[in-house]
Amino acid sequence: MEQSRGSWGSNIGFLLAAIGSAVGLGNIWGFPYKMGKSGGFTFLIIYFLLAVFVGFIIMIAELAMGRKTGKGTIGAYHTLSRKFRWIGWLAVFSPFIIMSFYSVLGAYCIEYMSLNLSNLAFAGAEIKTGADLFGSMLTNPFGAVAFTVLFMVICYLINRSGVSGGIEKFNKIGMPALFVMLVIIIIRSLTLPGASEGLKFMFVPGYAVKAGFISEAPGFLTVLATAGGQMFFSLSLAMGAMITYGSYLSKQENLVKNSGIIVVADTIVATMAGLAVIPAAVANGIAQINGGATVMDAATGLERAMTFADIQLGGPSLLFVTLQDVFQAMGPIGPLFGVIFYLLVLIAAISSAISLIEVVVTYFMDRAAEKGRQGNRPRIVLWVCLAIMVEAFLVAMDGLGSNGIAPYNLLGMENNINGWNDCWLDFMDMMSEGIAMPLGALLMSLMVGWEIKPRTLLDEIHQGSRLRIDGFFSFCIRFIAPLGMVMILLGQIDTFFRLGIF
Ligand code: TRP
Repeated sequence: MEQSRGSWGSNIGFLLAAIGSAVGLGNIWGFPYKMGKSGGFTFLIIYFLLAVFVGFIIMIAELAMGRKTGKGTIGAYHTLSRKFRWIGWLAVFSPFIIMSFYSVLGAYCIEYMSLNLSNLAFAGAEIKTGADLFGSMLTNPFGAVAFTVLFMVICYLINRSGVSGGIEKFNKIGMPALFVMLVIIIIRSLTLPGASEGLKFMFVPGYAVKAGFISEAPGFLTVLATAGGQMFFSLSLAMGAMITYGSYLSKQENLVKNSGIIVVADTIVATMAGLAVIPAAVANGIAQINGGATVMDAATGLERAMTFADIQLGGPSLLFVTLQDVFQAMGPIGPLFGVIFYLLVLIAAISSAISLIEVVVTYFMDRAAEKGRQGNRPRIVLWVCLAIMVEAFLVAMDGLGSNGIAPYNLLGMENNINGWNDCWLDFMDMMSEGIAMPLGALLMSLMVGWEIKPRTLLDEIHQGSRLRIDGFFSFCIRFIAPLGMVMILLGQIDTFFRLGIF
């Protein structure tokens, strides 16, 4: 049975796949703007602390759980725990939910890439502004659905080829390519006039407020909740992805070192994405302000001069409106950078999506194996992808929420928190990042720390690693991680109050 389950071809292949899972829309889109909205530097410090004391520890624990049991998420929880065996279900359900919007965002990346490609080919043709463009895409259900299908077909083809033949192969080429493209975009971004304002926004404490990007920095709990949720999402934790990937890893490999590399690489790419995106967006905003641009004031309905506060750095508009405008403002070679950028985001989205799909696929493969059968991978992948497509269609047809079928109506929430009617995203984001992930990780650390005891996993961690972190691991998983997670959940509840949900 062991043999037919498959495994990674090499440790570097595993690392690139795990980094590929971690590096995704969360890094390129979420991290930069959440840092900005949270007042910059404070967010960064809290994020780093959480990554070391919580993220790193949970990462080791998840990989160890997977490798020890040799099973996907549900199987791993069932084997290890009596009291917490049901968490596995949560961890298979959530990736399925995340995919509903992840695939649609991936679809928009394909649309934008092809659009820039055609702008490049037909230079001189009339070009729409980012806002008009995104608006017309959101209200074009047919296009969104068609490209969502295309995105899912790509994922299907990769997942059906298996762990080493598909996922590992894609990441071995995709990750280095992503890195090179990211460097190209960073160089372009940092050499735009006004880019230094964006750098200050990112790294000078309090600058976002001082320069007028945001009116007031949010409170400590809110920043903690935002940074914590972001950390879980970005590191692909608490959703079974790392348990699943760990279950395909050889016993000789070093879990501690691998976890360290994944966490560091993910954080570096997130910071790099910030450098690629924020200075460019700010520089473009400054150019517009200097050019005398006006905006419609939301409160008064009157036209007024644009200010720093009007530079859109949050929500999908950052990726699909602001940046598209940046590329268009670059003149004839702009579309070339556009193609490179959206291709980069697309690769990041695919490499994460295939890890989310694999969580569900591995569950069905393991279940077949338990019954003594060899699971039919292509068929299982097909069904999983079809099921995801059904829920994704809803989000795609709704244009991420602009066409009025989204769940905010049910909750009575504010529907355009980020200036767009992107309430599917806000809702899913809150459910997954805000609640399901910290809650899942809290339960998991309680299980490891107090039910099955850190020893159980430490025995597994010792295989392949001479580095002894027993004291640090036990202390963090028993006390620091649960405490951190409770604070994140409190911060989230606090945010709910502010949104008026309670
Ligand atoms: N980490 C990815 C991102 O930053 C998203 C992701 C992929 C994910 N797989 C996951 C999140 C598993 C949680 C769990 O975009």
